[in-house]
Amino acid sequence: MPTEATLKLENQEISLPIIVGTEGERAVDCRNLRANTGYITFDEGYGNTGSCESQVTFIDGEIGILRYRGYPIEQLAEKSDFVETSYLVIHGELPTPEQRKRYSRYLRDNSDIHRGLYRLLEEFPPDSHPMAVLAASMNALGCYYPHLAVNNHERDLQNYDEAAAIAISKVRTLTAMSYRLSRGLALVHPKREMPYCENFLHMMFSEPYHDFIAEPEVARALNLLLLLHADHEQNCSTSTVRMVASSGANLFASISAGISALWGPLHGGANMAVIEMLQQIHADGDDGSRFVQAAKSGKARLMGFGHRVYKNYDPRAKIIGRTCDEMLAKLGRKDPLLDIARHLEQVALKDSYFIDRKLYPNVDFYSGIIMRAIGIPLNMFTVMFSIGRMPGWIANWKEVAATSKSRIYRPRQIYTGHVKRDYVASELR
Ligand code: CMC
Repeated sequence: MPTEATLKLENQEISLPIIVGTEGERAVDCRNLRANTGYITFDEGYGNTGSCESQVTFIDGEIGILRYRGYPIEQLAEKSDFVETSYLVIHGELPTPEQRKRYSRYLRDNSDIHRGLYRLLEEFPPDSHPMAVLAASMNALGCYYPHLAVNNHERDLQNYDEAAAIAISKVRTLTAMSYRLSRGLALVHPKREMPYCENFLHMMFSEPYHDFIAEPEVARALNLLLLLHADHEQNCSTSTVRMVASSGANLFASISAGISALWGPLHGGANMAVIEMLQQIHADGDDGSRFVQAAKSGKARLMGFGHRVYKNYDPRAKIIGRTCDEMLAKLGRKDPLLDIARHLEQVALKDSYFIDRKLYPNVDFYSGIIMRAIGIPLNMFTVMFSIGRMPGWIANWKEVAATSKSRIYRPRQIYTGHVKRDYVASELR
């Protein structure tokens, strides 16, 4: 493998070092290009740009591989749960039984939220979008822990374990509380003895006079759903977290920015958009065939299909697709939207438009079916994605904060506006 690339520019030959990752990924190191030549690289949308070195997640999108800290997603999905996987992503290793116990205790001790945060949540109009509420309340969470949100990476890192546990534990409480407040329901506090997912479902669906006990299949499906979202390397929201962190910002502020980035329909918001699309297809009496034609002609976009990195089946979609069938069968339920989704998938996978562009179902294609079965309201789907993605955002924040030579993220641009011109007085315009 070559150790350097040569670039010819204006009769000058520039040597650019090659960087190789542990899985053999190769990059041309352009860090000194501008200083040596005055040129920058141009890569709108960053499709060819490595923005960092990272040890958290490996993806090979050509063959559909996803690993957290080296562990294949299929093994984690089968053998682990969300809390254990979040520890792995955040701390780099699977926990020993003692570490797991301590971590769980940390999460339990930090599950409730300050009264001030309840009041903040109460002030949002009832029809506020839950993603707006979550982004705002996650940033506000830092206000209640000023010693964890100093905006000095060295000091914020001293309390990393505590800040990470608070963020992971309280995100579900903030989510459940804002849901109940938006519906005018009585607040239900977390229960110390309940596991993570069961506790979330309890806060969502219990009443002061009646405890909601999640069926094991439901708790297991939620665990799986969150685990499959735990990290996905340099996606839009994680890159946002890193961008904000690179300025020296604290964990809560950086995650809050990540939540905002996740909201859009091309990223985490796709899980809502998929169900809206399936509902529309159902209401139109289409089995999906007409919609596929519309997507091919550019009149519609097949939500939950396609991915910047995967040019093969998203391994998470495979696992979620299977789980949909198993969970609905165990609960003895049917969902007409699942039939439409299956038909859409079959039609699309045989169609040359999708084959030529290597468009396959992504994680969002089936995740909404599971969330519907759990009873999560549609406008909260992307919030569920946020809960799942917390470990990845936290781990990536740490990588930026802990890299002593890390520089502020500051891309350049090619200016295409007016060249210099003189100010015109208002009466002459
Ligand atoms: N339906 C129809 N055509 C599509 C789709 C789709 N879902 N996705 C891509 N294409 C076409 C696109 O029109 C383009 O065609 P052409 O070459 O003729 O112009 C070609 O495929 C390449 O697409 P692109 O827009 O350049 O791809 P991208 O890498 O910029 O975008 C994407 C990736 C995920 C934003 C896009 O595939 C998409 O909009 N998918 C639907 C939204 C979605 O499901 N998002 C969730 C992503 S996975 C969860 C997450 O990490 O957020």
